[in-house]
Amino acid sequence: MVKIAPSILSADFAILGEQVSKVEQAGAELLHIDVMDGHFVPNITIGPLVVEALRPVSQLIFDVHLMIENPDLYIKQFARAGADIITVHAETCPHLHRTVQAIKETGVKAGVALNPSTPPDILEYVLGQLDLVLVMTVNPGFGGQKFIREMLPKISKIKAMLDRIQSTALLEVDGGVNVNTAGEVAAAGADTLVAGSAIFGAEDPAVAVQKIKEAAGE
Ligand code: DX5
Ligand code: ZN
Repeated sequence: MVKIAPSILSADFAILGEQVSKVEQAGAELLHIDVMDGHFVPNITIGPLVVEALRPVSQLIFDVHLMIENPDLYIKQFARAGADIITVHAETCPHLHRTVQAIKETGVKAGVALNPSTPPDILEYVLGQLDLVLVMTVNPGFGGQKFIREMLPKISKIKAMLDRIQSTALLEVDGGVNVNTAGEVAAAGADTLVAGSAIFGAEDPAVAVQKIKEAAGE
């Protein structure tokens, strides 16, 4: 059974709390929170303040996706703000093993994200430590981009790597996920689907959550 992680990047920030409640009631399991710094990616979004503000109004698993340089500097702040999972990009972490340990030391689950051009091998020696692997199926920075189909074999490859070590880590896919792509993403081995524009850009985000679940083969 796939889990759905609506990305608030495409939500209406003027009524953010209401939007989160809507997807929570619709059966989403996680809330995907995209943090961008204008350096690692060409966009600036939200920080720990927003995570902190949403924490009391939602029981969802807060899945914080850090698209920032020097993520080590902000791990504690996001943990304190209420993150349940903190995911860093392998491309931003010269000492990836240390960064993963630093996340876990805060009591939060640790994830690693890979850009489309980054090979899965980079995960090999940290995989056993991870609670989540995030495969980017767009180049990070913006919502509403087109799904990169060449990532399907990469999802399957990482799924096999996880199975080989009997990992229970979530295999999450982010970018261009909608009713048309959810089926093949799930078939490739993903168990957690991020969707931003397909959910918050829909007329009814609650219906969109259900439709994506169905499309993923529920
Ligand atoms: C992209 C972000 C995504 C984004 C997905 O840089 O990491 O989480 O919100 O948006 P959609 O689902 O519209 O591709
Ligand atoms: Zn994301």
